[in-house]
Amino acid sequence: MQIDLNIYPGTRISRVNPVIQPFAVALRELLKPFKKYTKEKLSYKGDGITTSHNCDFLYTEKFIKAYAKCYQSHGSLSINLHWRIHQALWCSAIAQHLQGDIIEFGVGNGLVMSSVLEVYEDWENSNKKLILVDTFSPHNVDHLSGKQDSSQPINPFYAKSLEYVKSNFAAFKNVEFVIGFIPNILSAIKVDNLSFVHIDMNYYAPEIAALEFCWEKIVEGGVILLDDYAYNGHHEQYSAMNVLAKKLNFEILTTPTGQGIIIKSRR
Ligand SMILES: C[S@@+](CC[C@H](N)C(=O)[O-])C[C@H]1O[C@@H](n2cnc3c(N)ncnc32)[C@H](O)[C@@H]1O
Repeated sequence: MQIDLNIYPGTRISRVNPVIQPFAVALRELLKPFKKYTKEKLSYKGDGITTSHNCDFLYTEKFIKAYAKCYQSHGSLSINLHWRIHQALWCSAIAQHLQGDIIEFGVGNGLVMSSVLEVYEDWENSNKKLILVDTFSPHNVDHLSGKQDSSQPINPFYAKSLEYVKSNFAAFKNVEFVIGFIPNILSAIKVDNLSFVHIDMNYYAPEIAALEFCWEKIVEGGVILLDDYAYNGHHEQYSAMNVLAKKLNFEILTTPTGQGIIIKSRR
């Protein structure tokens, strides 16, 4: 049997007292032959994902700070969006090195974008603005009409009120709110270049319209995060985005959260 003395990041051993670590490694190696009889240790379970792989990002200072903001923006109600916040932070880290503003279609209470700004390096001096586009209605989207009338139930992930959402961004400069229904409101959005586009409106028609509107404005290397692309039950968005991908010639990465990620590359 080959002896492995490595201590791998993200494992329980990596987190125990360094004095104990050699003994823990020895025990791990001794128990290896019996491993098939032991249950694999999960490192993350939630939001449709179960994994035993390295999830060290969960314990970084940056992630903990961002996630605390997410939780606070949701009114300190329980949430399970770790992986989505991780992906949004990754997208904004890419955008940080590019020219162009950030835009979100479907803001709700601003969980994702307030987390992004909370840890964005020197946001105030970044020469970027964040444009937040939503009806800011708390009512669910009707899945036949795409409308949010008051006959639809209130969704806890949709805006409690415009004032409430604004309070979640009160600490940040360069944030613009565009209030209205997509696609009707698209012409009111004044932007030249975009580096990060987040689309999360739970309905295919405005999502396609939003991406078509943005496409030419997205700089090379810019990133698009589709919240519902492969999400369970959102087949219409999946099909419609795949048709748009063919038309505009881009590739979509499906992620385990049911999201999609696109990097706009040179064509
Ligand atoms: C799931 S929520 C967005 C959550 C948000 N990304 C966050 O980080 O908390 C979906 C949002 O899309 C908005 N929405 C749905 N259809 C829309 C449309 N046609 N035009 C504008 N906003 C729309 C809703 O008002 C709702 O706030």
